[in-house]
Formats: sequence, structure tokens, C-alpha cells
Amino acid sequence: MKNLVVWGGRPLEGKVQCDGAKNAALPILAGSLLTNGVTTVSAVPDLADVQTMLALLASIGAEVQDSGGQVQISANRLVPTAPYDLVRKMRASFLVMGPLLVRCGKASIPLPGGCAIGQRPVDLHLKGFEAMGASISMGNGFINASAPRLHGAEIYLDMPSVGATENIIMAACLAHGDTVIDNAAQEPEVVDLANFLNSAGAKVKGAGTSRIRISGVSELSGTAYTIIPDRIEAATYLVAGAITSGKVLVENVIPLHLKSVLAKLSECGFTVIEGYKSVEIHAGSRPKPVSIKTLPYPGFPTDVQAPFAALCSLGQGTTIISETIFENRFGYSEELRRMGASIRIEGANAVIEGVNSLTGAKIQAGDLRAGAALCLAALAAQGISYITGIEHLERGYSRLTEKLRSLGARISSFDDNMDHASGFRG
Ligand code: EPZ
Repeated sequence: MKNLVVWGGRPLEGKVQCDGAKNAALPILAGSLLTNGVTTVSAVPDLADVQTMLALLASIGAEVQDSGGQVQISANRLVPTAPYDLVRKMRASFLVMGPLLVRCGKASIPLPGGCAIGQRPVDLHLKGFEAMGASISMGNGFINASAPRLHGAEIYLDMPSVGATENIIMAACLAHGDTVIDNAAQEPEVVDLANFLNSAGAKVKGAGTSRIRISGVSELSGTAYTIIPDRIEAATYLVAGAITSGKVLVENVIPLHLKSVLAKLSECGFTVIEGYKSVEIHAGSRPKPVSIKTLPYPGFPTDVQAPFAALCSLGQGTTIISETIFENRFGYSEELRRMGASIRIEGANAVIEGVNSLTGAKIQAGDLRAGAALCLAALAAQGISYITGIEHLERGYSRLTEKLRSLGARISSFDDNMDHASGFRG
């Protein structure tokens, strides 16, 4: 297993470029299954989750050409059954259900497991497909859906699920008639998917609002599309600058997508400078206490909750973080306590009493964003930290150690069987 070693205590300074958004790339790559002809997607980030999605597309019959950042996909002969070994790796695999169902008239997808951040059901995805005329059954750990011809429907989502909104949009693009999704997710990645589908001839209106209307068409043509920048990666590097009392310029970012995060960084007392496609943070002192409540977009993103908890563990007072999206997303708290943080979990809230400093320790990443939080804490801590489980980090952050090193971090990765960190010069 690959690990990270971090020599903490140095302010990060300099500039870093964000890649394309993981959470836009995954639904858009799944959406390419809807198109006839060749679809080219650019600014695809080099991430483990993207590689899993590409392998999944190939396993169900798509022709995939990955030329580093640009992917070409032809989806003319599809097999409507997804393999368990790929789906179990990544929940977002379930996003192929909508495209397969509407193109093949049926789809069999292994039930995606829950993961470190909660049970994560897919009932809202299935509610949408059933409303459009699909019959759903379960058997041998698979969810089977069939529908000779999907028809339009009015669908109310009990909660604004990002994945359910995306899956239903994709199925509705080729359904017969109009579909309306009420209480839809408004995330920028949903808008990016809609823009991608419309570039292929779909008729999706209202993406980015809570009510989305999709008018079914007979087919979608191949297209060329570029993914939006990753707002969660951007937020992570801004917090890296903040937690180390540094000065970091993040480029290739859409500041509008980060409004809630930038507002909270300003409330913490940091200087935040927005550019056209960049954001810079100047962090003079420790953060002032703030209260954070994760909400669906445009609220504070749950994916930035863990990195912010690391930041606030060095705060000047008490911070309360309320996690309203996932039922179990404080997994990092035990590891932060091992570094000297004072953090206690009370139901859906984390109560964080800021401390003057953290100390390096051997810590374990349990999921993607928890891993990011521990990496940030290690960068700020006094002394050396060893972080295991960084395969989680590789799912969502490409070239993490390279980018952090370019900001002056003393960080390196090494395998279990090596007794020293390679590539780091003291
Ligand atoms: C997407 O996950 C993102 N992943 C997540 O990012 C992100 O945290 C999440 O949206 C919320 O913003 C991708 O886009 C690939 P949801 P998704 O459906 O679609 C419940 C990261 O770190 N729910 O909006 O799975 C669910 O249990 C990842 O990059 C149902 O109850 O999130 C959760 O509590 C982590 N029934 C809540 O809704 C359903 O049918 C939000 O889930 C679907 C979801």
C-alpha cells in the first residue's frame, strides 16, 4: 500500500493549477453512452475513479481511447450488464444505469455498496426510472431494470440527490415525451452534464435550478466537450494555504462555484482575492471560529467539510460543523485527535476547540476527503506524519504530492516495503 510522509510546519506559497472536475467527468463519461458516433471529452482528470469509469464503459461494449486528459468514446454496441468487480470500486458506476436502460431497454447493475461515508442508497434513482415506465427487480446482488420504451414523467426527488438527478436526466434525454425533475440537485457538475448532453443534441432546460425539464429526442450525436474545473480540488488547495498560514494562488477555477467556501474563508479572517479564473488566499493568522453547515449547492459543500475541520482544529476558538448530507462523514476525527486536535462528535455535529498546534503522527485515511483533511493537518503539524491509505486520495486528487511540493511542502510517497521516503530531499 502506498503511504505519504509529510514534514509539517512550513507555510505553503506559490500557485497551483486545478484539473477538470472529477464529479463532472464521471457523469459526462457515463452520458457518452447515450451518443451515436464519436464523443471527445477534454480536461478529463487523471484519477483512479476516472480510470474505473473508463474500464466500466469498455466492459459494457464502448470503444474507449484515453490519450491523457482527452478521451474518445464510441458507444454503438452496448452490453446492458455491468461487472461487479468494477461497480463495487466506485458508487458513481451506478450512473451507467440510466444510459443503458434507455438505449438497450434494460440494465443490470450490481447494487453499489455503501462506503466509508454512509449507506448511500439509490432509491431515488430507481423512483425516477419507475416513474418513466421501467420495471425494477433485485436478484443476486444486482438491480435489474427493463423498459421497452421509457416515457416522460413528473418526478419529485425527496432530497436533491446529485446522482439521482444526473441518472434521471440521462435516461430522460432519449425517453418519449417530457420529463420534469422537481427538487433537483443544482450542483455545477449537474449543469456541466446538461451542457454536455445539449451539445450532443439533447433538450435539457433548467439545470442549475431545482426544476429541470428534459424533452426526449430520438438520438444524440457524437460531440466534443471540455469539463469544468474541479471546485473541490480548488477548495482543498485554498485550505492548504490557509492551514499553513501561507499564500496560495489557485488557477483554473470558477470562483462562482466556490462562493460558500470563499465566504467562510473570509469569515475565518483570511484575505481572499477572486480573479477571473483564479482565487488567491493570504493567511496571516489562525482562523477565527466559524459555524459550518453542509447543504446542497449553493450551500457549503459536504466534500469540503473534512478539510475545513482540519483547518478549524487550529482555530482561535470553538467551531461547530454540522453535516446534513451524509450520516457518517466525521471518520477523520479520531485521526485528528491523534495529532492533538480537540474535536468531539455529537450526532451530526463536530465540535472543534481550536488548539495552538498539532503534532505529526502515524494516521490512516479512511475515505477520499478524510484523506485530504489528514494531509492538510500534517502539512500544518509540527514534526513528521505518516499517512496510510492514500489510495483513497488518488481517487480524487491527481498529482497531489507534486502539486503540494510545488507550493513548498515537504512531502513524499513511499511503498510499504520501503524503509525510507523516496524522492524527498530532507
Ligand atoms: C455526489 O455523490 C458526489 N459524487 C459526492 O462526492 C458528493 O459528496 C455528493 O454528490 C453530495 O454533493 C459524485 O458526483 C461522483 P447524493 P452522490 O446522491 O450522487 C442520499 C467526493 O468526495 N441519497 O447527492 O452519491 C445519500 O445517501 C464524493 O467527490 C438517497 O437517500 O450524492 C446521501 O445521504 C463523495 N437516495 C445524500 O442523499 C438516493 O437515491 C446525498 O447523496 C440517492 C442519494
